[in-house]
Amino acid sequence: MQILLSPEDLADGVDRLAREIRRDYDGRPLSIVGVLTGSIVFVADLIRRLDGPVRLHMIQASSYRGTATSPGRLDLRLDLLPDLDGQDVLLVDDIFDTGRTLEAIVAELRRRGAASVKSLVLFRKQGRAEVAIEPDYVGFDIPDAFVVGYGLDYDGCWRQLPHVASLDASELATPRADFLQPCRLP
Ligand code: IMP
Ligand code: MG
Repeated sequence: MQILLSPEDLADGVDRLAREIRRDYDGRPLSIVGVLTGSIVFVADLIRRLDGPVRLHMIQASSYRGTATSPGRLDLRLDLLPDLDGQDVLLVDDIFDTGRTLEAIVAELRRRGAASVKSLVLFRKQGRAEVAIEPDYVGFDIPDAFVVGYGLDYDGCWRQLPHVASLDASELATPRADFLQPCRLP
């Protein structure tokens, strides 16, 4: 594992994103929609840097990755979402990889009557996009590597790391049982 971003780097990035949001929304009420589970650490840090009225709602998206590092079928669960009619919505996700998750959720939020929908991601991977839309706000552009920490996982592990680290190809090729041993459940 190689450290890509330290806790200090991440805090600087979150500060910068929060400044952009405060500037653009200028005290208007904002409904944040966070995407479980990967964005949970980030969204918790981000909302504490915002002023003005903020609501927070969470939805769940998963692409059944497991130990695969490319996405499978996208499963969206929006049952915790209230009526968004007329609200300014900011979708917050951890990472924009192929972009398929963000594209699907933005479309769904628009269908639900939000007055405006913008999107924000902490990370965008270089050279991976498969969709035409881009996030409105990006914290960091990162190389095309699989990353963990600060909420992001590999097969459920390492979300708790305070930094972000990339896994290299040999680590990803290691038999699952050995590589994930340190975070095995009893
Ligand atoms: P996309 O739909 O391909 O853009 O994938 C976005 C989702 O895949 C993110 O919300 C993450 O949950 C997950 N993901 C993509 N790349 C990584 C990574 O490098 N580490 C951990 N999760 C990732
Ligand atoms: Mg995710």
